[in-house]
Amino acid sequence: MTLSIRFPEAPGEAPALVLFAADGATLTPAAAAADRATGSQLGRAMKAAAFTGKKGAMVELLAPSGLAAERVLLLGLGEPGKADARAFEELGGKVAEHLQLKAAAATADLSGLSGLGVPLSEAAAHLALGTALRSWRHDRWRTTLKEEEKPKFAEFAIAGAPGAEAAFAPLKQVMEGVFLTRELVTEPANIIYPQSFVEKVEAMAGPLGLEVTVLDEAEMTRLGFGALLGVAQGSARPPRVIALEWNGTGNADATPLLLVGKGVTFDTGGISIKPAAGMEDMKWDMGGAAAVAGAMVALAGRKARARVVGVCALVENMPDGNAQRPGDVVTTHSGQTVEVINTDAEGRLVLSDAMWWAQSRWKPDVMLDLATLTGAIIISLGHEYAGMFANDDGLADALKAAGESSGDRLWRMPLGEKGGAYDKLTDSAIADMKNVGPREGGSITAAQFLQRFVAEGVKWAHLDIAGTVWKAKAGATHDKGATGFGVRLIDRFVAATRER
Ligand code: BES
Ligand code: MN
Ligand code: ZN
Repeated sequence: MTLSIRFPEAPGEAPALVLFAADGATLTPAAAAADRATGSQLGRAMKAAAFTGKKGAMVELLAPSGLAAERVLLLGLGEPGKADARAFEELGGKVAEHLQLKAAAATADLSGLSGLGVPLSEAAAHLALGTALRSWRHDRWRTTLKEEEKPKFAEFAIAGAPGAEAAFAPLKQVMEGVFLTRELVTEPANIIYPQSFVEKVEAMAGPLGLEVTVLDEAEMTRLGFGALLGVAQGSARPPRVIALEWNGTGNADATPLLLVGKGVTFDTGGISIKPAAGMEDMKWDMGGAAAVAGAMVALAGRKARARVVGVCALVENMPDGNAQRPGDVVTTHSGQTVEVINTDAEGRLVLSDAMWWAQSRWKPDVMLDLATLTGAIIISLGHEYAGMFANDDGLADALKAAGESSGDRLWRMPLGEKGGAYDKLTDSAIADMKNVGPREGGSITAAQFLQRFVAEGVKWAHLDIAGTVWKAKAGATHDKGATGFGVRLIDRFVAATRER
């Protein structure tokens, strides 16, 4: 069920009424009106709950007298001047989390709110976005949900914020991108594999005006994708590369931003097989590719004034009689050779060919790759920040800022010179490089490996999103499970660096 969102001028009647108060339990005009209508019940509930209007706090009043609503949710704004877009998203998330199983419809009344850190229309639009993002869940495979376990919350009206509808229009497109990413990430590997990923994304691309290129196995053989094909050769499901192109500049020759995503639709580790416990998580080893696809849907949906190419490199990493062996040497599309010491370090192999091919074809000035590349990044950063490795400080700063404003946060990690000390850790006795270094600094040597496939002059950042694609616990704007990490980050990055 997707939440339907409206922005009426005046609040109609709904079973849940959502109101706001600032620090010092200062009621907004709409909340003050509700307090009067209830004969001060709201004020008494605030006292009883020791509610002070602190950011993110909530008090609920059930069955208020004098109001049509069955319940009132009063949300804390904290210091109004500090209530920014992200703060309203988090408040929206609270509304969704609280009402999901309880109310079919809600109305939020923002009328009279002023002095916020963002224009009121933006506040309302981001409240809507946060609510919708937090409501998303994937119940496709649950056939025995009891009535009371089924989500009920289907309609959200946000009143009293003129211009909010227009402010929400681009955010709604970004939301659609996040939803696509989450669905691709959540579906298991018997549903989403290279060909089915391509079909799903192609079906959305056409109507949005995205230009699609698909490489099949024969084409990749002709192009000499030895590293990607080496990973794919143990699987019964053939690999694919799909490229999605959006040009909203009006200039066919505009220099594009290139996005490349790791799309390992299942990672068993191959012959260097992973332990059984937790291996099911490796269905989401295509989270980078899913984020790239979602970002392209978002950018095309909101008709971004930028040229962006998104490439998803799709393979399944399986061990069978034809699988590649530890010690095999493969020749990449770039001509560089790799000794495959560990078949579980497959993401960098897959990306190396996709990155080189896409750079040669589209000649970008900036390239971002997104990949669930290493377990080591989870050891370093946990699940709050994705690791960022960049060869350019300006690019790193812009990404960092986009991360903070979107909530998809990044922490910069070190990247060494080509041929430097970190690179020496992957020297091979037989080929140009080997695909793993020592255990220490595992995320860094993985990034160094990718750097060998960055063309001269290209500004590049590698985002290791292994810790942020999937969360065991719900967060402010996502349920437990797939987060959709990367889509909003890319959307903000494009808006800040390519659309001005
Ligand atoms: N897909 C994994 C990384 C991963 C691990 C993502 C855990 C999410 C959660 C990647 O392909 C992998 O297996 N990396 C190895 C590299 C090692 C063999 C050098 C790892 O991290 O153990
Ligand atoms: Mn692996
Ligand atoms: Zn992997």
